[in-house]
Amino acid sequence: MIQFPRPRELSNNMTDLMQKIASLAKRRGFIFPSSEIYGGFGSCYDFGPLGVEMKNNIKKAWWDEMTKTQKDIVGLDAAILMSPKVWQASGHLSAGFADELVECKKCHKRFKKDEIKGSKCPECGGVLTKPRKFNLMMKTFIGSVENETSTSYLRPETCQGIYVNFENVLNSTRLKIPFGVAQIGKAFRNEITPGNFIYRTREFEQMEMQWFCQPKTADKFFDFWKKQRMKWYLNLGIKKENLRAREVPVKERAHYARRQIDIEYKFPFGWQEIEGVHNRGDYDLSNHAKYSGQDFKYEGYFPYIIETSAGADRSFLTFLVNAYSEVKGGRTKTTEATKEAEVLLKLHKTLAPVKIAVLPLVKNKPQLVKKAKEVYQLLKTHFSTQYDEVGSIGRRYRRQDEIGTMYAVTIDFDTLKKKDVTLRNRDTMKQERIKIDKLVECLKKQL
Ligand code: GAP
Repeated sequence: MIQFPRPRELSNNMTDLMQKIASLAKRRGFIFPSSEIYGGFGSCYDFGPLGVEMKNNIKKAWWDEMTKTQKDIVGLDAAILMSPKVWQASGHLSAGFADELVECKKCHKRFKKDEIKGSKCPECGGVLTKPRKFNLMMKTFIGSVENETSTSYLRPETCQGIYVNFENVLNSTRLKIPFGVAQIGKAFRNEITPGNFIYRTREFEQMEMQWFCQPKTADKFFDFWKKQRMKWYLNLGIKKENLRAREVPVKERAHYARRQIDIEYKFPFGWQEIEGVHNRGDYDLSNHAKYSGQDFKYEGYFPYIIETSAGADRSFLTFLVNAYSEVKGGRTKTTEATKEAEVLLKLHKTLAPVKIAVLPLVKNKPQLVKKAKEVYQLLKTHFSTQYDEVGSIGRRYRRQDEIGTMYAVTIDFDTLKKKDVTLRNRDTMKQERIKIDKLVECLKKQL
């Protein structure tokens, strides 16, 4: 077998726990390093068969929260490529969206100035250059000629697509202020120091909601959205002690923010931002009005914008880390299980990529396999379901626990006589007998 080099992101820069989570994610098909056969590429990652299911579940949970549970929010899906004028108006082309970086004169590695302690290169001890501004936007060229006039940018935040469509949304719906527009989509930043697995990458997805309101109501809505967003994470199983909202002081705030709180999670590598709630005031609408010459006023004033901005990939990592647990010596006392630490992924039922596993007790009894495949066919049209007949039943339970499958349905010899199955709960490991003709109804109530 060809041995490909280990991508840098999987070997450096991570705590032991993060290494374990990253290797589980790869082994079980949640996340693969991008272009891995070529040694990986620039902190980019691909979501595998289980990863894409789980990420879709996260995005759906967010979308449903915004457009169904909350009131007066509509959706939008704007293009990634936009007129470069958008980025002039938004402040992203100027100093507002640049990190200060220093470069080592010897090894030429670049570092964020505020992450460097001392005056020497942390990698090789070389002399560092004076700090200079580095714009984080990814450049590209539109059309067949590469020059200044064809330069465009991959959007660094999704919300600008909402602001430039403010009038279109107003004119095409019956919405009146206050209202919100929600969007999920890719964003790109040429991060100087990506890392910690998928925590900071150069290509990522954002889930952003922009709430347009009267200036005098902005503070009230800021507090409202901060509470709603904290509740969303808690309702999806994030441990309370590992979640906090941090008021961001003026000097740390984004260039557009009048007020900012960062929702933070306690990762193995420390407390880190997972979502920002921003009062952007009239910064965006007034600038787009100025640069485009359009009248973006609503009843004579520029609405204020309260923004909730979460990362889909960062949420993914948060839910994964939050769910990961190891049980030393195993949860069951079979000799096979006690040999090694058992991994249990306690994902919330909404987010688990597989809800049910159908397992024939043994695979060398054709009647059991036939019945198990029938039950699998019955369940798979209702729930995300896997069929597995390989290995001992204990090993198969553990394989499912490791990916967070909520229930295991086991087909045994009694099934053939009594037309019932064993239903095993992932977290309690409790087993109960359920008639096959009641199975779908029973699982629909649980899931
Ligand atoms: N529109 C406002 C905005 O973009 P931000 O604080 O720069 O605000 C919001 O980003 C969220 O987007 C972050 O809290 C994070 O979840 C996600 N995000 C930002 N940069 C990221 C990166 N390089 N990799 C992964 N997620 C990122």
